[in-house]
Amino acid sequence: MRNAVVEALANDGFLLDQEAEEFILGQPSPLQFARQAISQLPYQPLVVTMRDLRTVVRVEAPRLETVPRQEPLPSRRLGEVEVLKDITSHSDCLATVEGFARYFQDRFASLKGLLLRRRDMLGAISIQRAMDPRKLQADEVKVIGMVNEVRETRSGERIVELEDDTGRMTVMVPKDSKAAKDSILQDEVVGAVGRMSRKDRKLILKELIRPDVPFGSGMEVTDSTAQVAFMSDVHVGSNTFLEGRWQSMMAWLKEEAEELDIRYIVIPGDCVDGVGVFPDQEEELVIEDIIDQYRALAEKLKEVPDGIRIVMQPGNHDMVRPAEPQPALGEEAARLFDSSILQVGNPAYLRIEGRTILSYHGKSFDDLMSGIKGLSYSQPIKAMEEMLKRRHLAPAYGGKTPFAPERRDYLVIDEVPDIFVTGHVHGAGVSFYNGVRLINASTWQDQTSYQRRLNFVPEPAKLTLVHLGTGRPAVAEF
Ligand SMILES: [Fe+2]
Ligand SMILES: [Fe+2]
Repeated sequence: MRNAVVEALANDGFLLDQEAEEFILGQPSPLQFARQAISQLPYQPLVVTMRDLRTVVRVEAPRLETVPRQEPLPSRRLGEVEVLKDITSHSDCLATVEGFARYFQDRFASLKGLLLRRRDMLGAISIQRAMDPRKLQADEVKVIGMVNEVRETRSGERIVELEDDTGRMTVMVPKDSKAAKDSILQDEVVGAVGRMSRKDRKLILKELIRPDVPFGSGMEVTDSTAQVAFMSDVHVGSNTFLEGRWQSMMAWLKEEAEELDIRYIVIPGDCVDGVGVFPDQEEELVIEDIIDQYRALAEKLKEVPDGIRIVMQPGNHDMVRPAEPQPALGEEAARLFDSSILQVGNPAYLRIEGRTILSYHGKSFDDLMSGIKGLSYSQPIKAMEEMLKRRHLAPAYGGKTPFAPERRDYLVIDEVPDIFVTGHVHGAGVSFYNGVRLINASTWQDQTSYQRRLNFVPEPAKLTLVHLGTGRPAVAEF
């Protein structure tokens, strides 16, 4: 019965949080009760909570709703490399309606927390309070909400439906406002500042605030002399893997690593080409078995000079679940690699010699490039800036990036990293954003037939180095 009720309500467009679900299921005719209660709500929440139900039905012994406090995760380490946060062995995803509701609650709570730290969001109130007809504010109002819907009126004005845990509100974006040209994504969490119109209780937007990265974040100079090399999208197993250029890079590394003090290598995903990732992939494989692909990569990495620690992360071509966050490679593949190689999940927060590195393969580029005006595959760094502004690695839900509804949203950029690295687009770029060093880390695969059809020209065989003491980047081409 439980599933039938929850599913019927989901089909109506409503999810229940756990407490509301228990309460509803405890009623004599749960579905009828829930539909009647929800129809009486003055707004349409995506997730119905006890707080909503209490506004329309009598509930005995009300309990206060609290967001469960997240325990800090225990960290793993290999020498100087410490994994601060990744999903590996912490997965508790619940692929049900309640699981998704829980996931979005955590995403909202985390990003709201970041917005509330901003000085310009001081005095933010709940949507319910902003909408209260008795207290309709004459002054400026600030609210924080998750974007439920973005649409355009016939006259070309944009309307954004915002939602928080108390209600929903309509925000009008005037054509002459700064936000008019801004791309607002579904499910991103924003601050909205404006005035309430008395007539229809809509917020007329003056300013859209994103959590963003504080100005002047990032690296202060330390006395570390080590360098980290970023080596993404190796795609071993593909017939377009650039064997010759890989070998020149390896020869260079053997020659220069000591002189340049290269002590770490990070591989941000698509370590091998995988199997069955796209239609007819087998025609483009020289190694058809994925375990054999990992075996070949393990052999290649044995040539890396001793003393260099390697961090390997999966991407959308690797042998882990495609839904993000992805855990580290499983035992069957991981055991093929030396113990000097640390397997981490995607995304992962690492700390190396005091520097915080956020490494994310970058599957969500596929959604951002189509969702945000002005972005293109040739400028992945711009898309990385959009992630930092939104403090989320995959701000648009429901596109090409599959998600696993974990209890906590591992894709939130809750800590500002010193270095933020991605791969996936097979481009290569280095930049700074508010002090954060941005790296998009090339590939070791030549143009594929798919990329040729799309007229996409990759920038392969570049090794990007970052000095951990100064943050200075360097790119070696092969
Ligand atoms: Fe790739
Ligand atoms: Fe990829």
